[in-house]
Amino acid sequence: MTKTQIWSTIFLVLFIALFFLHKATKEDATVKPAMGENYGDTQTQESTATGFSAEEAVVNWGCNTCHGQDLRGTQMAPPLYGLSEFYDRDKLTNYLRNPNSFMDSDRFREFKQKYKNIVMPAYNNKDIKELGKVADYLLGLQ
Ligand code: HEC
Repeated sequence: MTKTQIWSTIFLVLFIALFFLHKATKEDATVKPAMGENYGDTQTQESTATGFSAEEAVVNWGCNTCHGQDLRGTQMAPPLYGLSEFYDRDKLTNYLRNPNSFMDSDRFREFKQKYKNIVMPAYNNKDIKELGKVADYLLGLQ
């Protein structure tokens, strides 16, 4: 190889290396915000990135076994429509994690009477971001 050939080979290799490096860092940058701490604020972006769907979670986590296929309530559990009257996102997320801490209100005393033998499970083993998205989804049901 001549000197010129050697140099052009070096440049070519460098160019290719830089190209891939650039691509790798670019991908990194698009993934990062999706994993942001601020759970659920970048909702649509995040759900496409993580493949999480609140609507599916409600089925997969068994909510509709008690609350009904359409979440409009059954003999076992109340409807999950119009919750925005009583909860904001944080409160509802907290509720899902620890339903027992919400028992001392008239609404819940009534629930206890009405759905005597059924206990709303605590979902404190779930990812907080996912719970936030489920809360958002429920608050949208009117
Ligand atoms: C084993 C049955 C059961 C399952 C499963 C269940 N729930 Fe419940 N849920 C209840 C009962 C019963 C109540 C009424 C409160 C009580 O008696 O503890 C309730 C209450 C609630 C409330 C409060 C409603 C209000 O008007 O304040 C919300 C919100 C709720 N459930 C959401 C969910 C979600 C979301 C899921 C799935 C992740 C779920 N529940 C799964 C039985 C269940």
